[in-house]
Amino acid sequence: MTTVVRIIDLIKYYELGSVLVKALDGVSLTVHEGEFVALMGPSGSGKSTLLNLLGCLDRPTYGHYYLAGQDVAGMPDDQLSDIRSRFLGFIFQQYNLLAQYTVVENIEVPLLYQERRLTEETRQRCIELAELVGLGQRLDHRPMQLSGGQQQRVAIARALVNDPQVILADEPTGNLDTRTSEEIMQLLTRLNQAGKTIIMVTHENDIASWAKRVVRMRDGIVETDELNTPHWLRDGATVSA
Ligand SMILES: Nc1ncnc2c1ncn2[C@@H]1O[C@H](COP(=O)(O)OP(=O)(O)OP(=O)(O)O)[C@@H](O)[C@H]1O
Ligand SMILES: [Mg+2]
Repeated sequence: MTTVVRIIDLIKYYELGSVLVKALDGVSLTVHEGEFVALMGPSGSGKSTLLNLLGCLDRPTYGHYYLAGQDVAGMPDDQLSDIRSRFLGFIFQQYNLLAQYTVVENIEVPLLYQERRLTEETRQRCIELAELVGLGQRLDHRPMQLSGGQQQRVAIARALVNDPQVILADEPTGNLDTRTSEEIMQLLTRLNQAGKTIIMVTHENDIASWAKRVVRMRDGIVETDELNTPHWLRDGATVSA
């Protein structure tokens, strides 16, 4: 099994005046290619802090982080953003789409950050990603003209544009109703079945029940780490969408 993410004794402290907030207080975690991990735990337990560190959006106070075998904890910024865009795709609770851009243009955005030239070929790839997430009929719509679930689909397509190994999702269904959440989870499950490693933060047991492993945090540490049979497998069904 290939290890994609390995963190050892990760610590993240925030200094707020005279108060030291121990957001992460020594977290070790190894994630292999093809895993689907749900990160759970009460509010303030450090889930988003951990996901942001895994996403190289922030740096640890202490500890080691190996992403695809490379030590990223002390890497210079330009190298870090390079490895981030090659290995990681992000999905957030608030979609973070650009209002003035169309569906296809939003999917193209990570390419712009990499200063890649947009060509007929990259455009075609973004159209195919829009089709993959079921938005082939909405290519020229802007975020305001889409439902919440459709906006999250755009965000998922955008996360896939660099063909990342790992998808990091922070409460991807947090703003969605039950039915739409289920559709998004089916989509993530299909991506996982196609080989993507997924690490997803969620508060909800129903959402975590789609994952193959559940890591529970409390007060900045990992409290439990257990394998899970995704509920649709238990039910003997296949994932459709
Ligand atoms: N930039 C910051 N400055 C100071 N403290 C912070 C900062 N970011 C997070 N914290 C603190 O770190 C702790 C962990 O926060 P984090 O956002 O990781 O929690 P969480 O598990 O994602 O919670 P939630 O479920 O509410 O999203 C909290 O006590 C929070 O107040
Ligand atoms: Mg959070």
